[in-house]
Amino acid sequence: MKLSKRVSSVQPSVTMAVTAKAKQLKSEGVDVVGFGAGEPDFDTPQNIKNAAKKAIDDGVTKYTPAGGTEELKQAVVEKFKRENGLEYQTSQITINCGAKHSIYNICQVIMDPGDELIIPSPYWVSYPEFANLAEGKPVFVDTDYENGFDLDVKAIEQAVTDKTKAIVVNSPSNPTGAVYSEQRLRAVAELAVEKDLIIISDEIYEHLVYDGQQHFSIATISDEVKQKTVVVNGVSKAYSMTGWRIGYTASVPEIAKAISTIQSHSTSNPTSISQKASVEALLGPQEEVAKMRGEFEKRRGYIVERLNKMAGVSCHQPGGAFYVFPSFAAVMGKSYNDKKLENTLDLADYLLTECKIAPVPGEGFGAPGYMRFSYAASLDDITKGMDRLEEGLGKLQ
Ligand SMILES: Cc1ncc(COP(=O)(O)O)c(C=O)c1O
Repeated sequence: MKLSKRVSSVQPSVTMAVTAKAKQLKSEGVDVVGFGAGEPDFDTPQNIKNAAKKAIDDGVTKYTPAGGTEELKQAVVEKFKRENGLEYQTSQITINCGAKHSIYNICQVIMDPGDELIIPSPYWVSYPEFANLAEGKPVFVDTDYENGFDLDVKAIEQAVTDKTKAIVVNSPSNPTGAVYSEQRLRAVAELAVEKDLIIISDEIYEHLVYDGQQHFSIATISDEVKQKTVVVNGVSKAYSMTGWRIGYTASVPEIAKAISTIQSHSTSNPTSISQKASVEALLGPQEEVAKMRGEFEKRRGYIVERLNKMAGVSCHQPGGAFYVFPSFAAVMGKSYNDKKLENTLDLADYLLTECKIAPVPGEGFGAPGYMRFSYAASLDDITKGMDRLEEGLGKLQ
């Protein structure tokens, strides 16, 4: 059957492919250590689960307004005020089926065919596809390992054309864990104002920032910048609620209204029960968030130390998220049983089949030579996986 050109331009997710392969091996009884997880390994806090159970018992089981309930929008307004010092009206908020859906929607409402979306690279796998699905064009701008993958503002400036519609900033970043410096975010904001670009600020890892640092939202720079920014966030990572599928946006009312309109003809609304649970997540006790952050910070320290002790591996200590993105450049070209490892796809294959560990090769994030290791796994598993990696690398010639 001939399918649409639109769908044939979309690449399946590498991260999901690796996770699926690792899961399959596990189901066959193979003891694989997965490093592909894009979700916290903690359970959703009990108070949030209770709110969902109560919602079911109270009969909150019907359609809601397409762009989300007024109650949850109000909770999001309060969150922005409390945590970011940002003032919004509920008419500027939309509730979506996960932050992924939020960004998909944003691209649908702001991009026309041929419009360009600037994406700092290495990038989260879905950004280019959001542009493709809106018949726009992803434009990648490299960031360097040497600068801790911080934004390269000069390169971004050079990438701007008269077709550029928007730029994505994702801090803390997936896949690098980089927290962009305030100075460079300010420079990007200035550029966006000067060139009339929309900033899509994906802040889904906001709460996972370490070393006592505070998250900095680009929308807080000035009122002018706030007007140009669509802030994206959600409950998935902060409250360990990936399966509940709630994300949200804050923007000028025109964009919010357009997103609700699109949603009214696609998903109708995010799940009523998950919306009730998200009100509790945003307004209820916040201690669990700090606990998770503390655990992640311990694991980050451990995994970075182990990686940097291995010959041929170098790894920055990233400021946020739950990923590390070490370079394996010095390992490329080595062989195992006379099979040369030409790239990190070959290395990932070797590590999965021979060493039974599953990191995600950098190719999927536009960064061959690197591998993403998620530390959203127990310290025991991380230890076992690092032992296997060390042994596996030692066997290469
Ligand atoms: C950078 C980034 N943005 C957005 C998302 C989507 O999160 P959600 O589960 O809310 O759709 C993810 C999930 O992996 C992510 O890594």
